[in-house]
Amino acid sequence: MDIKSICCIGAGYVGGPSMAIIAKYCPDIKINVVDINPERISQWNAKDLSNLPIYEPGLKKIVEKCRDENLNFSTNMKKYIEEADLIFISVNTPTKTKGIGSGQAIDLKYVEASSREISKYATGKTIVVEKSTLPVKTAQTIKSILDSTAKDKNHLEEKTFSVLSNPEFLAEGTAINDLENPDRVLIGGDDQEAIDKLVSIYSRWIKKTKVLTTDLWSSELSKLISNAFLAQRISSINTISALCEATGAKIKDVSLAVGMDRRIGKHFLNSGPGFGGSCFKKDISNLVYISNHYGLFEVAEYWQKVLDINSWQQSRFVELIVKTMFGTISSKTIAILGFSFKANTNDTRESPAIYICNKLIEEGAFLRIYDPKVKYSQIKKDLTSNEKENSQDWIVSNSIDESLNNADAAVFLTEWREFQSLNWQNISKIMRQPSWVFDTRSIVNLEAVKKSGINIWQVGYGN
Ligand code: NAD
Ligand code: UGA
Repeated sequence: MDIKSICCIGAGYVGGPSMAIIAKYCPDIKINVVDINPERISQWNAKDLSNLPIYEPGLKKIVEKCRDENLNFSTNMKKYIEEADLIFISVNTPTKTKGIGSGQAIDLKYVEASSREISKYATGKTIVVEKSTLPVKTAQTIKSILDSTAKDKNHLEEKTFSVLSNPEFLAEGTAINDLENPDRVLIGGDDQEAIDKLVSIYSRWIKKTKVLTTDLWSSELSKLISNAFLAQRISSINTISALCEATGAKIKDVSLAVGMDRRIGKHFLNSGPGFGGSCFKKDISNLVYISNHYGLFEVAEYWQKVLDINSWQQSRFVELIVKTMFGTISSKTIAILGFSFKANTNDTRESPAIYICNKLIEEGAFLRIYDPKVKYSQIKKDLTSNEKENSQDWIVSNSIDESLNNADAAVFLTEWREFQSLNWQNISKIMRQPSWVFDTRSIVNLEAVKKSGINIWQVGYGN
């Protein structure tokens, strides 16, 4: 039987966009995205599409087209699990914050809760697909939970489950393009009929040669390792940015020269304030945890270093800012340009801006923060100093100029396009002299800043 109804548990950065794309290419399939968070669901249902819970270029248009046709957002888990032939689990998988494995292992409580809901409400034969990033062998846990009700003698109707792994590789900010033109789609499983059904969905818009099928454990592990390799490149180039600063070599030239070797490749060689986002840190921490669990201590140490370098890059930036500004930033005004963890998203999870801003505040600076997409309420949640009411440590500015007015320094933390062509002559007139630019992404026009008389430091560029 063909798939007629899909349910996705988790209406987040993955569940929302990935289901919107399936809805776009499969108009004959009903897609119901469910979540325990009613606020998130009402944002997905907002009449004004600029109030969707996530900002992602191109997403609004697809939601506008498919919502109320075959794409539906709801909190009614029971109804849509009951109806579904195929269920994606797309819930968050954060790092454990207490107990065994705290700070490293993945907390599977949301995955477990979803599996219990599925096992309670599903009917007939249901394909359950892991879309969340999960530790290798989680499919076994999910299957045990699901099978516990299938075997329950009190259930009159027999239910059966098939578990597949189908990790998501989209990156925020380019999610729509990544979903429409992925490098590959990975499906792991041992039930060929279920695999074929999932392949047939992706085949509506993706070439079959790009759909790779494997066993469950290889699929689960490949997702973790893809993220680990990407993060490793960032830590590698960030160590070299410090070496460039020390020697006078230029990081962009080094990245270009190295990346032109086809065996290395040009992508993911931009040095910056370290990787942020909800996944790299948690996934590599998990890799470290799993490696230790299997007694592979050298493997664990190797990947731990990728995380250590990421933290080091951020702390060295803070030290550099303080040192450059005559050893103190107490009572100085610093404009923070960009708060999201990368451009084209409103997501601030693990954003380098959080650590850097908190440290600058600790050093006594007053921050004026400008980001084109991150809201005040989110920044307030992220900055610890504002646990005290009426804190005077920072404010949000509504424009770049407002943040720079009378500021002693500007720290560029996100590579938003609008930061890349500023009028530095005009800016030099509104900043307090002497003034500094700290460009942690090397995106501003170096010559124009120098010409304006403002001091500039860029990541990976020595004097
Ligand atoms: P998210 O926090 O944005 O969304 C998860 C959603 O799941 C939340 O809205 C939450 O309320 C909901 N949820 C949690 N428990 C639930 C339950 N029991 N029933 C119903 N809803 C529940 O997370 P995300 O960024 O979408 O990430 C989801 C998974 O995808 C993670 O495993 C992550 O590692 C992986 N992933 C994320 C990205 C990304 O770019 N964000 C990319 C690839 C993979
Ligand atoms: C990343 C991966 O790219 C996705 O393939 C994966 O699906 C996803 O994680 C996930 O599993 O969550 P994402 O975190 O959304 O996607 O964004 P990236 O483009 O990978 O950027 C991550 C961080 O690395 C950002 O802070 C970014 O600024 C930084 N980065 C990226 C660099 O510092 N230099 C680079 O060259 C590239």
